[in-house]
Amino acid sequence: MSQWVRAVAVDDIKEGGAKSFAYSDKRIALFRTARGVFATDNRCPHQGYALVRGDVRDGELTCAWHNWKFDLPTGGCRFGGENIRSYPVQVRDGQVYLDVADPPAEVIRPELFASLNAAMDDLDVGRLARDALRLQRIGTPLSDVVREGVRYAAPRAEYGWDHSLATLTDCLRMSQFFTESLRALPVIQGLSVAAEDQVRRPARQRPDPVDPVAGYGSVDAALLAYPELVDAERAEEAEALLRGLIAAGVPAPVLRHMLLTAVTDHFLAYGHSMIFVQKAFELLDGIGWQEADTVLSPLVPEMVLGTRYDKLPYMRRFLRAWQGAEPELTALAAGLPGAGVQAGGGFDQAGFRRALTDGSPEEAMTALAGALRAGTAVAALIDATGLAAAERLARFDIELDLDDTNECGWLDVTHTLTYLNALRWAWSADPSPEVLRGLFHAAWFVQWTGQFDDRDPGRDHGRPRPHQTEDAAQLHRAIIRRDPEAAVALVDGYTGPRAELERSLMQAAAEDHSTAPIMVAHVVKTARAAVDESRALGETPQSAAPIAAAARFLASPKRERFVYQSTLDAISTLRGVPRPDAEQVRP
Ligand code: FES
Repeated sequence: MSQWVRAVAVDDIKEGGAKSFAYSDKRIALFRTARGVFATDNRCPHQGYALVRGDVRDGELTCAWHNWKFDLPTGGCRFGGENIRSYPVQVRDGQVYLDVADPPAEVIRPELFASLNAAMDDLDVGRLARDALRLQRIGTPLSDVVREGVRYAAPRAEYGWDHSLATLTDCLRMSQFFTESLRALPVIQGLSVAAEDQVRRPARQRPDPVDPVAGYGSVDAALLAYPELVDAERAEEAEALLRGLIAAGVPAPVLRHMLLTAVTDHFLAYGHSMIFVQKAFELLDGIGWQEADTVLSPLVPEMVLGTRYDKLPYMRRFLRAWQGAEPELTALAAGLPGAGVQAGGGFDQAGFRRALTDGSPEEAMTALAGALRAGTAVAALIDATGLAAAERLARFDIELDLDDTNECGWLDVTHTLTYLNALRWAWSADPSPEVLRGLFHAAWFVQWTGQFDDRDPGRDHGRPRPHQTEDAAQLHRAIIRRDPEAAVALVDGYTGPRAELERSLMQAAAEDHSTAPIMVAHVVKTARAAVDESRALGETPQSAAPIAAAARFLASPKRERFVYQSTLDAISTLRGVPRPDAEQVRP
């Protein structure tokens, strides 16, 4: 419906001149030309300068600041990156009238989604932000905006699931920590990571779905075949089967168990495969199961191509210890739900954590196996392993990350927390023997990453003295000014509501100024996992430890470009020097 309003008298604009006009929240530029009066947005979409100062020639408006050009009657962009809105104009009785009615949401929404896609293709973050906010403003749920990002990113993900999809998942969940327009901030952060990761990539070729009954005899047989296909690296067959199972309507929990079985057959891709399964199902919770084929099928190449860390020297000692106990543990886990549900009496949580953070591979393995044998609840062991992972982040040697002469860095240890958080999700959804294997991987992970602890005798390794405060915003400020000591001290000394502290951490994560998309992805992922872990620990004195751990990571200066390190690697490679085949990178 039209909404005509009187703007100005025609004579208020001199021939060939322009005038600005405001109506409600609209800022409009009026141009009087030989062909009549025209009205457009006054804000240039490029950097927001006033278009009323622009030049008009032959029906073309040129922004005075950086020369973007627009067709004056329609607002179509002729040079630059985005159209502007033009308003219908009528001149009656010497007065200029404008139709300021906004088009119905259902009319402009498809245009905005098309524009959002174009912005992702151009890696134009400014336009991404504007389109996401315009969509939000016309009442589009942010989950719909993320769904569009997923439809853009998932088919282009060259090797399947990657950080772009994980970040979109985390960012959708993070939006709950913000209010009003800023709710879109994490979503825009997620879209920008997705755009940067996938920009202008062609869609990955996918195999057609295979009917599970026709191809494997029955759905049950097909479900059993899937992990074997992954193990044998038969990616095409595995993906065709997964797509067929989805098309056949196999329920989500059944597919989830099948995927979790495949990802715990090995310690896959430094834990990423488990993390990505968690994110994929969370994403589908957010954007709807109808996207299952789009979201789940890229899991297959990622898990097929993922490194089997359990086949590398890294895990050798731990696996030797595990092999001895595995049959008993399998039997123990197979007795579920009886085993592992009730907490065993006398669980020495501190001793267990110490075995993981300071013990040998054998001691870590023995501590976990012993606790299970004693009937300790798996959930209690997940809590304790999560705290040990948080301790690992608290001890990480920050200098190591900044040293180009090694390949170790923050991301080697942040995954202990994010993997554990994925395992917690997996166990809560599917308390099965297959998922229980993931707890052994988690215990190994925490133990193994002890090599990255700060052990320099010349430095003071004590935890900073708690800084007592009720002002959660101080944590955000400490992170933004890159002060890890202050960040940890503030979390340790914080006495206000926990929700405020979580929000402060999330705000810092959503605003993160890292340049590399992979770093933004891990900042977001670690912050989100820390909040989940903290909440899972409930009202206990230790429950802020995961937040302190993530805050330390967020606040630390981090290496993001690896040109010098790659050059050093290349020199070694060209000299024919292989890396040492050691179980530990650092002695
Ligand atoms: S602000 Fe208009 S072109 Fe830059």
